[in-house]
Amino acid sequence: MINSISVAAALLLSFQGASAIERPNNVGRLPALGWNSWNAFGCDIDETKIMTAANELVSSGLNKLGYEYVNLDDCWAVKDHRDATTGRIIPDPDKFPDGIDGTAQKIHDLGLKIGIYSSAGTETCAGYPASIGNEAIDAQSFAEWGIDYLKYDNCYVPSKWSDYSFCVADSDFPNVNPNGTCPGLDNQAPSGYDWSQSNTTKRYNVMRDALAAVEDQRVILYSLCEWGYADVVSWGNQTASSWRMSGDINATWERITAIANLNAHELEFVDFWGHSDPDMLEVGNGNLTIEENRAHFALWAIMKSPLIIGTALDSLPETHLDILKNSDLIAFNQDPTYGKPAVPYKAGYSNGTYDPEHPPEFWSGSTSYGWDLVLLFNSENATAARSAVWSEIPQLSGGNSSSYQVQNIWSGDDLGCVTNQYTADLEAHDVAVLKITGSC
Ligand SMILES: *[C@@H]1O[C@H](CO)[C@@H](O)[C@H](O)[C@H]1NC(C)=O
Ligand SMILES: *[C@@H]1O[C@H](CO)[C@@H](O)[C@H](O)[C@H]1NC(C)=O
Ligand SMILES: *[C@@H]1O[C@H](CO)[C@@H](O)[C@H](O)[C@H]1NC(C)=O
Ligand SMILES: *[C@@H]1O[C@H](CO)[C@@H](O)[C@H](O)[C@H]1NC(C)=O
Ligand SMILES: *[C@@H]1O[C@H](CO)[C@@H](O)[C@H](O)[C@H]1NC(C)=O
Ligand SMILES: *[C@@H]1O[C@H](CO)[C@@H](O)[C@H](O)[C@H]1NC(C)=O
Ligand SMILES: *[C@@H]1O[C@H](CO)[C@@H](O)[C@H](O)[C@H]1NC(C)=O
Ligand SMILES: *[C@@H]1O[C@H](CO)[C@@H](O)[C@H](O)[C@H]1NC(C)=O
Repeated sequence: MINSISVAAALLLSFQGASAIERPNNVGRLPALGWNSWNAFGCDIDETKIMTAANELVSSGLNKLGYEYVNLDDCWAVKDHRDATTGRIIPDPDKFPDGIDGTAQKIHDLGLKIGIYSSAGTETCAGYPASIGNEAIDAQSFAEWGIDYLKYDNCYVPSKWSDYSFCVADSDFPNVNPNGTCPGLDNQAPSGYDWSQSNTTKRYNVMRDALAAVEDQRVILYSLCEWGYADVVSWGNQTASSWRMSGDINATWERITAIANLNAHELEFVDFWGHSDPDMLEVGNGNLTIEENRAHFALWAIMKSPLIIGTALDSLPETHLDILKNSDLIAFNQDPTYGKPAVPYKAGYSNGTYDPEHPPEFWSGSTSYGWDLVLLFNSENATAARSAVWSEIPQLSGGNSSSYQVQNIWSGDDLGCVTNQYTADLEAHDVAVLKITGSC
């Protein structure tokens, strides 16, 4: 279903730095926290599954940590037609017998918010009615139903909205050049092209404006899912609250590291009101080891990515629930007064080059809470040691101390006053996450 618009590396060019859309009630100021149906159920959704997830968010206590959005993905509508009279998309009456507004009411009654899904094309990715040419009426429906979040996909784009090809380092170009070139691709944009003028940008701005037009009725967070095309980092902040930067994630370690690696190189575009989205969480899915689940969650959290759970919560083991509930990582992700994510502080395994199997391994970030965060990651397939050397860490090297008070963010253990460096012996694909609370 992905058409001729193509792929390769993100060009970190021509970022406008212009102001983002700031929405009322702080909607979209921080990364969104919640749940979405797709990674758990694909097309096979109904109100029972959605309400099970909503109730689990409450009974597990995830809601108290900030997880608030319960998002329907594709396949919620009647498939082959809109309402002939009103032109509106019709909620599937078998799947949602009380309508989407009925489900919305139940979700709101739990103190949660509800999200919905459409595509900036003629059909959604699974072939259901989508919103291009119908943005205003669909935004109106969403507002009337009580929707709080829209994920807006990129399938079935009409030819009149065609665009230059773009390189996203992705499955089609797994070894794309780090300088953002994409050899062999047709129809590339002229050098220095301003992607904020592209057809893709305009196509996504139509829905931005339709949502703005119903904002008096309902503030709906706008979440772009255009797979990183058209250099979205250079204009996403002016169009939406978050932007997907790659094709879909799946519950394989290869896919998670490839996306993490790419997003690690796009974090300069992340701050309040605008968040790069490396796609929804796979914690609890597939055959990921517990270490891989932990690393996936920790990397997503410190990149200040939206944290949208994608698993069946009613069968999630406590070990995995605990990962999603890590309060220090969530606090880092949701810092109310410091907007920047953690970033790699030194070249790691791959010496800073683009490597989908080995994303950066040494990360640090600041908070407004009086502590700094350091993450060590073992991207290798076997146990290995990784060391955080205080003098290498930007948050610490300005100090006059060689000793810092350290806590382990997973165990909560106080590691005491640690001098010069901390070394973690890490299982394959595991992370150590440290909270540095001050010099000592
Ligand atoms: C995005 O826009 C917001 C609001 O104008 C601004 O605070 C933020 O710094 C922008 N992001 C970046 C990376 O410049
Ligand atoms: C953008 O859309 C216009 C109108 O359909 C079309 O003429 C133009 O070729 C498109 N631009 C690209 C780069 O495809
Ligand atoms: C995961 O995604 C990658 C890249 O799109 C693809 O090659 C692979 O087949 C997918 N694996 C599964 C299990 O879906
Ligand atoms: C980009 O990198 C590739 C591979 O290293 C190289 O062949 C190409 O000449 C480079 N292009 C530019 C514009 O630097
Ligand atoms: C998990 O492992 C099982 C058994 O090896 C395999 O059938 C299944 O496809 C794997 N799932 C994923 C998502 O890789
Ligand atoms: C990274 O660079 C160091 C120092 O030059 C070298 O010893 C090491 O082998 C390099 N690692 C990789 C994976 O290329
Ligand atoms: C790690 O394991 C994966 C999956 O078995 C394999 O594809 C990859 O080549 C291994 N990497 C290294 C560096 O051995
Ligand atoms: C760092 O320097 C300041 C100012 O001289 C001093 O007050 C403080 O105790 C020093 N901290 C450590 C840990 O040495």
